[in-house]
Amino acid sequence: MAARRNPTFICQNCGAVTNRWQGKCESCGEWNTIVEETSALDRPVSGRPSRKGRVFALEPLTGETPNAPRLSSGIAELDRVTGGGFVRGSVLLLGGDPGIGKSTLLIQASAALARSGHRSVYVSGEEAVAQVRLRAERLGLASAPVELASETSVEDIIATLSEGQVPKLIIIDSIQTMWTDTVESAPGTVTQVRSSAQALIRFAKRCGAAVILVGHVTKDGQIAGPRVVEHMVDAVLSFEGEGSHQFRILRALKNRFGPTDEIGVFEMTGIGLREVANPSELFLSERNLGAPGTAVFAGMEGTRPVLVEMQALVAPSSLGTPRRAVVGWDPSRLSMLIAVLDAHCGVRLGQHDVYLNVAGGLRINEPAADLAAAAALVSSLAESPLPSEAVYFGEISLSGALRPVSHRPSRLREAGKLGFSAAFAPESARADPDSGGTVRVNVVSALHDLVATIAAASARNPKRSAPRNDLRKPGQEG
Ligand code: TYD
Ligand code: MG
Repeated sequence: MAARRNPTFICQNCGAVTNRWQGKCESCGEWNTIVEETSALDRPVSGRPSRKGRVFALEPLTGETPNAPRLSSGIAELDRVTGGGFVRGSVLLLGGDPGIGKSTLLIQASAALARSGHRSVYVSGEEAVAQVRLRAERLGLASAPVELASETSVEDIIATLSEGQVPKLIIIDSIQTMWTDTVESAPGTVTQVRSSAQALIRFAKRCGAAVILVGHVTKDGQIAGPRVVEHMVDAVLSFEGEGSHQFRILRALKNRFGPTDEIGVFEMTGIGLREVANPSELFLSERNLGAPGTAVFAGMEGTRPVLVEMQALVAPSSLGTPRRAVVGWDPSRLSMLIAVLDAHCGVRLGQHDVYLNVAGGLRINEPAADLAAAAALVSSLAESPLPSEAVYFGEISLSGALRPVSHRPSRLREAGKLGFSAAFAPESARADPDSGGTVRVNVVSALHDLVATIAAASARNPKRSAPRNDLRKPGQEG
């Protein structure tokens, strides 16, 4: 049977397939990403006659469901994100910027597993064995019985790992360096990455090992090459951090066997990654007490409360269209807040540049951060610091009313634990008896109440000479 060779053109950014070359990918809009590849789909399965399908038994919905067999990594913050450890026979993709610490995290995890008696194999396609050894020495892990290899051929790796005792953990650093004979494209192309991942996933399912693939991230934050690999694996973790900070945050973007809202927090030190068990302490460690424009948000990351400082800067703009810049929060929520402040609270920011930043490199997705962001904005505009012993949380609706948020007791307890004595929060839907004890809750039912409180404090502030007329109490506008 002769192979019918249709040239296939594949976008190296999004994996879209076209039948002719184009300068611009119509699917993702990127330029010069389309490359001709021989698709595995066009090739006949060599030498194998077509066979009749095997008959298999169908199962009822009811039945024994054993928990996914987990392999604890010995790193609590990593286990938290995976949902309790690596699942045997599953494949996990770890993405992150170059130099963020992916290899460091994984050599630490494989060393911990190897030390507890599980066979762990670390295959590096990027570094020589000596380089990996050097890193392990620096981390004080040189004595751990991890088995190393510097290899890029998927067939050779699978053949080697099929011999002897099945490894419990296999690390492939990185999937972009791997190649397989079954396709002709160059390593790093979508087809190669996809086929290599496919082969490794099949191997993981067959032998029951937990396989971790490291994936490079492109400049716009996506795991390079195919999004398809993300769809093929069981879990996708992303390792993030701000360049200037030592903090690293591990987050699950997808997880077939666990939650996706937990984060793991690490600190990069001279001897590897250190777990940060209490992230609030870390995020508040550089607090600028008494400065206007900062509010502490009592947030939740998964099941864990995390306090973090939200910083705002509001300044008269010299531009026709004022600037709005946000780091660590959703820009469209900032636009909404600015509109609500304008429409319901008489706070006009139309002529002001507005900058909002979440301290410590954390990224907040919760709507509960609305109240803290609003407090920081108004405080900056009024040049009046907020009370340093208070935390803020609550979702703001378009009408300016506050909506209750979940996990109120945990937020208040965490605030109390860190020495805060007051909280500005919406009325709770239910009476909560154990709401922290030491933290007094000032109920905010509408955003203009909070604006009025800040305006009143600002009027009492002796440091200010002339009252700023951009901040008027509600009802005074006209
Ligand atoms: P690495 O794990 O190689 O990153 P990735 O695999 O994600 O590319 O980490 C590289 C960076 O981490 C490098 O800039 C040096 C720094 N580092 C430390 O600060 N301390 C350490 O103990 C190690 C091993 C690395
Ligand atoms: Mg690396």
